[in-house]
Amino acid sequence: NTNKTLIKKLNDQGTLAHDELYQLLTAMDDSDAQYLYQLARVKREAVYGKDVYLRGLIEFSNYCKNDCRYCGIRASNDRAERYRLSAQEIIDCANTGYDLGFRTVVLQSGEDLSFSDDDICAIVSAIKAHHPDLAITLSIGEKEKESYQKYFEAGAERYLLRQETSNPDHYAYLHPASLSLAHRKQCLEDLKEIGYQVGCGIMVGSPHQTFDHIIEDLYYMKDFNPQMVGIGPFIAHKDTPFRNEPNGTLEDTLHLLGIIRLMLPHVLLPATTALGTIDPLGREKGILAGANVVMPNLSPRSVRRKYMLYDGKICTGEEAAKCHACMERRIAKTGYQVVPSRGDYR
Ligand code: 5AD
Ligand code: FES
Repeated sequence: NTNKTLIKKLNDQGTLAHDELYQLLTAMDDSDAQYLYQLARVKREAVYGKDVYLRGLIEFSNYCKNDCRYCGIRASNDRAERYRLSAQEIIDCANTGYDLGFRTVVLQSGEDLSFSDDDICAIVSAIKAHHPDLAITLSIGEKEKESYQKYFEAGAERYLLRQETSNPDHYAYLHPASLSLAHRKQCLEDLKEIGYQVGCGIMVGSPHQTFDHIIEDLYYMKDFNPQMVGIGPFIAHKDTPFRNEPNGTLEDTLHLLGIIRLMLPHVLLPATTALGTIDPLGREKGILAGANVVMPNLSPRSVRRKYMLYDGKICTGEEAAKCHACMERRIAKTGYQVVPSRGDYR
């Protein structure tokens, strides 16, 4: 079977030619996929064993100056109920996370200009002062290199910034004219140069995305060699221009998780909330396809339903402790285990 031969070749060489990737992405049957996931698990276990790392996600503001066409908290969505947490509330969330056993928190927000660089640095250093062994990841969008440098010096060690798509025309279709793929990539280069562990990534099945675009994404990521890759299905949000667009599929997302694991064996790869939203066992399936990270929600319960990037987002009603316990139980059922460590890149 040619697909299995290709999967084995991808496993051994870490890459494939364009037409070979195209073949895999468009014509994998169930037994091919099972073979892909099996090899992906062997690769991830060789580096990370059976461990699954937790990242506690703190969604601290849903104000955003940008107007990405897919996103529920885009600036022009006047139906979004806006909120921002105070510095103290953010620090309290991180402390709660620490007490629950998290050793990584992700501070995520829209591009909210009311937080100055000094504000971000003060929050990062306060969290670090309480808990030097807690890793802090930022996910707050495009900034000047000088700003990234300041956050790094304040103690942030990791940064998530998905490129969303690696094709300039597709990028322009998804985003307002104020944003460009070239600038997004420049930010990723800046972050890497400063010394962050960097995460890039894409949405799977976003409107007008083709398999050729996805192959561009794979080559970009292979070349950029990030420490983390965040991928999840596109899910339509009712108050965006993409409200009637079809969602990305579970199958495409799982195929990509497996392929990315074979291309980047050391990568930290989350089974995302969006994957858990399109399928009740999506995150578990993601772990079994090669992912090794999950990101339970640590935001205060009162704001969770307001951080609606897409419709139907799960875990908006649960307390942090419940999400944490739920995730441990869910992962244990896959045969993998949540471990209470920082989960640094190896
Ligand atoms: N569907 C799926 N993912 C989305 N994101 C934003 N909007 C959507 C959507 N409608 C993702 C983007 C962003 C991350 C924080 O959330 O990829 O980088
Ligand atoms: Fe949040 Fe299960 S992980 S409720």
